[in-house]
Amino acid sequence: TKHLLGIKDLTANDIHLILETAKEFKDVINRPIKKVPSLRDVTIANVFFENSTRTRLSFELAEKRLSADVVNFSASGSSVKKGETLLDTVNNILAMKVDMVVMRHSSPGAPHYLSKHIKANIVNAGDGTHEHPTQALLDAFSMQEKIGDLAGKKVAIIGDILHSRVALSNIFCLQKLGAEVMVCGPNTLLPKYIREIGVKVEHNVQNALRWCDVANVLRIQLERQQIKYFPSLREYSLYFGINKKMLEELDKEIVLMHPGPINRGVELTSDAADSSHSIILDQVENGVAVRMAVLYLLAQQN
Ligand code: CP
Repeated sequence: TKHLLGIKDLTANDIHLILETAKEFKDVINRPIKKVPSLRDVTIANVFFENSTRTRLSFELAEKRLSADVVNFSASGSSVKKGETLLDTVNNILAMKVDMVVMRHSSPGAPHYLSKHIKANIVNAGDGTHEHPTQALLDAFSMQEKIGDLAGKKVAIIGDILHSRVALSNIFCLQKLGAEVMVCGPNTLLPKYIREIGVKVEHNVQNALRWCDVANVLRIQLERQQIKYFPSLREYSLYFGINKKMLEELDKEIVLMHPGPINRGVELTSDAADSSHSIILDQVENGVAVRMAVLYLLAQQN
């Protein structure tokens, strides 16, 4: 396939190939000389219509480690503010001989729309509440690194599932890899379709923690909430917030993950986020190798 638009389009074999390739790139970027010439003479534009810290820097580093030429575009400060359309913006960037586009956009389906109109490879770096495929891949990589093969493992995704592209991509990815998936949150933060996609649903966070091998905790996404949701942040942290004591009282070790950015004191206390259970910064480290693998494998198709 020419693009990476979502995990939904991938087979289990595709995912295994990406994760195996990422393992090799992780070895490469831990050497004193981190750079390989794989994408020399390939030009990549990182086109971000929505804010990002991790994803944008991680893609840029992945591209530079592969020796690609890189240009960065942020909608704020661009001619999008003068009314230029998405398609005109991207076509103007492509006119400068760009081969691949990494795009983040607040509208679900924006990269799918672009893929029908442009020739360059597109990598979805998050489209609204829909998918964030490279996040799910780096999450799977990080889980595998910590607990081995994910087949039969139990992963609880806890928090604001309704507004989360990370949740949907993780659910697709984990199911394809044979893991059992539970979502946990208040009913107001679970999408209506959730009971139709083969995941367990739980409203008690203690039960979710007791059940799982891995807890992937998501941010409450206030910026996507159109109305004032129940629960409030205070109520959310009271009923669904996770602290270190809750992790230590379990009769087994579980792995704690979060895609970032964290609302400290809301979905996680600092003592949990910074505890030895947490692999949050490993996720960020692994993101570079996983994105190198995705870009390298897509470039091979050309
Ligand atoms: N996890 C993630 O997508 O973070 P950013 O929004 O900072 O890229």
